[in-house]
This record gives sequence, structure tokens and C-alpha cells, in this order.
Amino acid sequence: MSIKVLFVCLGNICRSPTAEGIFLKLVNDAGLSKYIAVDSAGTAGWHEGRAPDARTIAAAKAQGYDLSTLRARQVLKDDFEKFDYIVAMDSENLHDLERLKPAHYTDYLGLFLTFGLQKKYRELPDPYHGTDKDFELVVDLVEDAAQGLLDHIRKNNAL
Ligand code: 4NP
Repeated sequence: MSIKVLFVCLGNICRSPTAEGIFLKLVNDAGLSKYIAVDSAGTAGWHEGRAPDARTIAAAKAQGYDLSTLRARQVLKDDFEKFDYIVAMDSENLHDLERLKPAHYTDYLGLFLTFGLQKKYRELPDPYHGTDKDFELVVDLVEDAAQGLLDHIRKNNAL
């Protein structure tokens, strides 16, 4: 049995694939890939089947992460039956997920950056209409929160 983590943003082509790729690398490097499964999705289905945004792929690649094989999909109500941690990138995503959430779901649903050490950002800023700097900031903030989330999961599941 593995612990299943789903990262969710709006389009699933910028923030949540960055979180998926960076978190997956931490899991693999820690030798925990048998115990922790990772996926990502968007609250909107606009980019279904597409690779991450080219600017997202480039910013992640510059820090040593390959996101090029990821493909976008929309979040499903059924995801609440499958995942143990559903992690939202901003409060709008969280709000949309709260509305989709079945009443019996009691596992984790919350904001990703609460796991990070930095305290300046509570939400991961949407870089879609931004500059290269905004995409670099996403990678930096995700690296911080991903480490915190992995530490949290290891502690709570004796891994
Ligand atoms: P993401 O960014 O939610 O981090 O994937 C966005 C991607 C696409 C759009 C908005 C945000 N869009 O409007 O198409």
C-alpha cells in the first residue's frame, strides 16, 4: 500500500506539474518510490493531454528537473477516493476542491505552501501571465514546500 499525493492548480501546465516533478525527485532520491505515489491535475480541463508550458519546463530544467513527459488532466471527484493528500496551489484551487469534495473524505486537503519554511507566500503565485522570473519563483517555492511535505509524510507514516 502506498501513500498517494495529488497536486492541484488551475490549468495543470505550470504550478502543479512543477510540484509533481520536484516532489517525485525528492521521493525517488529518498528511496521511497515504493511507498509514495505522485500525480497532478487541474481544476480546469482546458489543457487536457498537453505537456507543461514551455516556460515551466525550462525553469524546472534549469534546476535539474525533467517535466517534459508529464501530461495535463482535470481533477475528478473520484480522485478523492484514491488520494491521501490533495494539495492545492492557491486558495481558489482549494475552494474549488472543497466544492468537489465528497462529504466522507477525511484525508488531507489544504494549501501546499503551508509545508514550506518560507513565510512570505501563503499561495503559489500563478505565473501564466508573468515573466521568466515568475516561473523561477515557482520552482524556488515548490522546492521549499516539497521538502516540508515529504518530511511531514515521513513523520506521520513512519517512513
Ligand atoms: P497553472 O497556470 O494553473 O499553474 O497551470 C495556468 C495555466 C493556464 C491558464 C491559467 C493558469 N490558462 O488560463 O489557460
